[in-house]
Amino acid sequence: MAKHETPFLDELENGPWPSFVSDLKQQAEVRAKNEKGVEFQIPQDCVDDLLGVVELSYKHGRTHWKHGGIVGVFGYGGGVIGRYCDQPKLFPGVEHFHTMRVNQPCGKYYSTEYLRQLTELWDFRGSGVTNMHGATGDIILLGTTTPQLEEVFWTLTHDFGQDLGGSGSNLRTPADCLGQSRCEYSCYDTSALCHFLTNEYQDELHRPAFPYKFKFKFDGCPNCCVASIARSDMSFIGTWKDDIRIDQDAVNKYVEKDPAYPANAGAHKGRDWGPFDIKKEVLDLCPTHCMKFENKKLTINTEHCTRCMHCINVMPRALKIGKETGLSILCGAKAPILDGAQMGSLLVPFVEVNADNDYEAITEIIENIWDWWMEEGKNRERLGELIMRQGFQKLLEVTGIEAQPQHVAYPRTNPYIFWKEDEVPGGWERDVDEYRKHHLR
Ligand code: HEM
Ligand code: HEM
Ligand code: SF4
Ligand code: SF4
Repeated sequence: MAKHETPFLDELENGPWPSFVSDLKQQAEVRAKNEKGVEFQIPQDCVDDLLGVVELSYKHGRTHWKHGGIVGVFGYGGGVIGRYCDQPKLFPGVEHFHTMRVNQPCGKYYSTEYLRQLTELWDFRGSGVTNMHGATGDIILLGTTTPQLEEVFWTLTHDFGQDLGGSGSNLRTPADCLGQSRCEYSCYDTSALCHFLTNEYQDELHRPAFPYKFKFKFDGCPNCCVASIARSDMSFIGTWKDDIRIDQDAVNKYVEKDPAYPANAGAHKGRDWGPFDIKKEVLDLCPTHCMKFENKKLTINTEHCTRCMHCINVMPRALKIGKETGLSILCGAKAPILDGAQMGSLLVPFVEVNADNDYEAITEIIENIWDWWMEEGKNRERLGELIMRQGFQKLLEVTGIEAQPQHVAYPRTNPYIFWKEDEVPGGWERDVDEYRKHHLR
């Protein structure tokens, strides 16, 4: 018998999609029966009370969590999001309902053994409710009390070799696309780089030292499966410098509609789009029109190819990324608050990804940007906003990168151009009397 009536939530048990309400009810029941004899460290009925308070919010159309909450573990300045219910008498089980962020493995590959020990810990010391995963990437353990935080942290670190993720004005938990683990488009080992930089910058992740939050994300190619260009202050996107590798026999298999070679690996097979037409679906859609198909031979003018991925995405068995691979770095993506949404702007068109020298070329750029933003960034100003305020030119200066046409989608249209004094013959110091000798009042 459920603790609270939930008529609004009950509606959400209908329909084909997996219902979070059904799952929460199941978890409430598992805790009520407690067949495993767990010595629950937080109220046994916390999930019932969670359903109760969410139902109340459905009724009122308003949240019932109090403002903010500052909790954590010693040594760290972040990792836990404190929260308290504003109706603790009605729902004592969620009077404290803190969220712990746990740093996920790259590509989110797990063993059942790892997940089982994590869920056992969370059933014991938390609500047993999770978010797999938070939008930044963390494993999210949803709901526990303050005294349990150090206990969970102890077991995570001592027994599981597992650390917390980031929160606050610091480096947040980095995340990657699954990269070379199972994608033939991946231009570098996203997981290796993501893992290395997460370890390299643990201090910046656990102890807030920045003007505001800062995120890294790693995409193996411009398809951007982890959406780094939109969701990270520094976005690392794989690419290549040389030619796209063309297997002419395979191209002709596509053209001849060999069933083993469906366009886009069969992604559109749910609807009849007619027979594959290489001109219509590939050549004419190439954004730079740099492809030709003549006498059963496909050619690509590499000089004009922008590596948009379209042709490779359509004919994955025939076209492959080049061999001279690396990545591009884009900076400044952020959500609208304060002064408008931004996507990453291209800073480094191409840089090598070299694990042998600990990714020196990449860490140097990161640290130069941090040196600048940490000094010049205003309180709660994202990197993208500092770039707008002080100018992209300043970003180029602090990273020691020479301006090049690839840095802009188009040149400026306004003529409010600043010059440095030493670029102008004679400088800025002028004597008006000297001027008057030639120009009478
Ligand atoms: C034959 C007569 C004149 C010519 C050919 C002339 C030409 C110009 C030109 C080419 C500009 C620059 C526009 C720009 O930056 O886009 C300008 C700006 C200006 N002129 Fe004249 N002008 C003349 C007379 C005058 C007079 C008589 C006055 C005032 C009494 C005047 C006041 C200004 C002012 C205030 C500006 C704006 C300066 C700025 O944008 O910083 N001009 N003029
Ligand atoms: C006490 C008298 C005046 C004051 C306080 C004054 C103040 C200003 C200010 C604050 C601006 C804007 C500057 C900027 O955009 O950065 C301006 C622009 C301008 N003023 Fe005056 N002004 C005065 C008299 C005059 C007179 C007498 C003339 C013309 C005979 C004049 C012509 C202009 C012009 C053409 C501009 C536009 C310049 C541009 O768009 O770049 N002003 N003035
Ligand atoms: S971003 Fe590119 S490399 Fe990474 S998983 Fe997606 S398609 Fe593959
Ligand atoms: S990757 Fe894009 S720009 Fe390059 S040849 Fe293919 S479709 Fe054209």
